[in-house]
Amino acid sequence: MAEKILVTGANGQIGTVLCAELRKIYGKDQVLASDIKRASEKNEPYIFLDILNEQRLREVIDDHGITQVYHLAAILSANGEWNPMKTWNINLNGLLSILNLAKEHHIKKIFFPSTIAVFGNTTPKVNTAQHVPLLPETVYGISKVSGEMWCNYYYNRYGVDVRSLRYPGIISHQSIPAGGTTDYAVEIFHGIIKDNDYECFLDADTALPMMYIPDAIRATIELMEAPKEHIKVRTSYNLSAMSFTPAEIFEEIQKEYPDATIKYEPDFRQAIAEAWSSSIDDSEARNDWDWKHEYDLKALAEDMIRHIKPMYE
Ligand code: SER
Repeated sequence: MAEKILVTGANGQIGTVLCAELRKIYGKDQVLASDIKRASEKNEPYIFLDILNEQRLREVIDDHGITQVYHLAAILSANGEWNPMKTWNINLNGLLSILNLAKEHHIKKIFFPSTIAVFGNTTPKVNTAQHVPLLPETVYGISKVSGEMWCNYYYNRYGVDVRSLRYPGIISHQSIPAGGTTDYAVEIFHGIIKDNDYECFLDADTALPMMYIPDAIRATIELMEAPKEHIKVRTSYNLSAMSFTPAEIFEEIQKEYPDATIKYEPDFRQAIAEAWSSSIDDSEARNDWDWKHEYDLKALAEDMIRHIKPMYE
């Protein structure tokens, strides 16, 4: 049977790029993008879908014969703090609806994105291992730790083949991310290329794990295509490529923009970032399904500049 894939949150930072890549593999009409934002003609076929409307979700899955779901719809770390209950509702209840429908319907595989936000002040920060204390500081982190546990439970109890990655901060040029703490690493390119200046909401020396979007998309698809018996972690895999601070990425961009300036004005997001790991040990992903990253900071900065520069010319 041909695969029919539903992507929720398809207009977000990861969703837009993931849909395009999945369509290259499975064919345009086999990938149905859905979101509560306005459709973009670049992301067709597209349907409006509120993840909290379980009845409609059920209809979409039945009517389109959905066999795989990439469930990306979520509110991120910084925005989540403005409305904790709404964030909990969307981030957790959306996932539970999909897990329950998978149990009853013919969904073969589900992807659930987790995050470095599951780590907290009790987690060792350097080279953070797969199995560590998880006591997140944000409602986003709480919802993702809980989501990981529900994924593990649905796999063990009902055999639902749900797979997950703890994404680091994702950097991309295709869209502007909204509401995350790692967003500065995208904004800084736009600020400097457009105005030769950037005001950073994190301190200069706040190191965080990061990944360039092509690596993130490839990791997601490789995880989903790996043979089932290779997937040993059923909560969520640590995943890593590089770590850097705002000062380090600024220095890299300065190689192209030597007169650029930066100011550091940390806000409430500084405390969120400080609770996260500064680097990640992802050896289980590397061992179990052969994960390898390609982009380091230099390659990422060059490629981001190459794509963003023409936007302001
Ligand atoms: N990029 C996300 C955020 O900053 C982390 O998962 O919220």
